[in-house]
Amino acid sequence: MPSVSLSNQQTALVIGASQGIGLGFVRQLLEDGRFETVYGTYRRPESAQGLLALAAQHPQLTCLPMDVTDEASIAEAVSQLQACTPQLHRAVYCVGVLHDGDFQPEKSLRQISSENLVRSLQTNAFGAVLLAKHLLPLFKHDQPSVFAAISAKVGSIGDNRLGGWYGYRASKAALNMLIKTASLEYARRSPRTTLVLLHPGTTDTRLSEPFQRGVPPEKLFSIERTVAQLTTVMDDLTPADSGEFFNWDGTRLPW
Ligand SMILES: NC(=O)c1ccc[n+]([C@@H]2O[C@H](COP(=O)([O-])OP(=O)(O)OC[C@H]3O[C@@H](n4cnc5c(N)ncnc54)[C@H](OP(=O)(O)O)[C@@H]3O)[C@@H](O)[C@H]2O)c1
Repeated sequence: MPSVSLSNQQTALVIGASQGIGLGFVRQLLEDGRFETVYGTYRRPESAQGLLALAAQHPQLTCLPMDVTDEASIAEAVSQLQACTPQLHRAVYCVGVLHDGDFQPEKSLRQISSENLVRSLQTNAFGAVLLAKHLLPLFKHDQPSVFAAISAKVGSIGDNRLGGWYGYRASKAALNMLIKTASLEYARRSPRTTLVLLHPGTTDTRLSEPFQRGVPPEKLFSIERTVAQLTTVMDDLTPADSGEFFNWDGTRLPW
């Protein structure tokens, strides 16, 4: 007898849930009704107070520590997850770094450093494909599932007309290639899992805050709006969409 997916017994994971779009996804998933259990990862308790407070109120939510630049930390969190649940139906990679103190997006070649390039790549790109590696056993079931990584339109090589932000752009282009490539392997090994890249649109978070001047108010989305829009895109996906790069309105973006 085929196993039946009970629509309100699904499991979701948000990677990078301490704030911004990731924390917004956790709030949405707790309200969604389809997800019996929600897992959210955080890097350090100091910046995850909102997430940890939410977990204290909602037994449905479990928080797991994870630094995506450390594969052992990813493996440890995934093994904790596996001890609690055999199956995952939705995972959203919301981790990202654009600036942090002295670490700022490069305006010119003069500002390039390999150390900063490595940090962008490790955080924005390598973490996502390591998650695709470690989560594969949890996705290998016969119900539909989605693994979405939040990318960015500035990672589109075809769309790059302004220049600047070398490390961030390159890391998002690398993220796109890594997830596209993983989608082809998943199609063989876990064919009911759809892997996609999503551009959220400019969203009012810590990451965009220093760059919001000049963004027209109607183009600066609240976290709630972005999460609702990206949830609609994810809900409409089929395995035929796997490996694609979607804008927040569900249209395709150029690589
Ligand atoms: N906001 C926008 O306008 C916009 C536009 C396009 C794309 N995006 C993308 O959307 C995603 C979410 O960004 P956001 O705007 O919500 O930014 P945010 O508020 O700064 O959140 C970024 C998240 O990434 C986590 N993180 C950073 N480094 C990490 C690491 N090494 N290990 C684990 N977690 C780490 C942060 O955790 P801590 O709290 O520990 O720092 C935080 O939870 C990012 O991929 C970003 O590139 C955002």
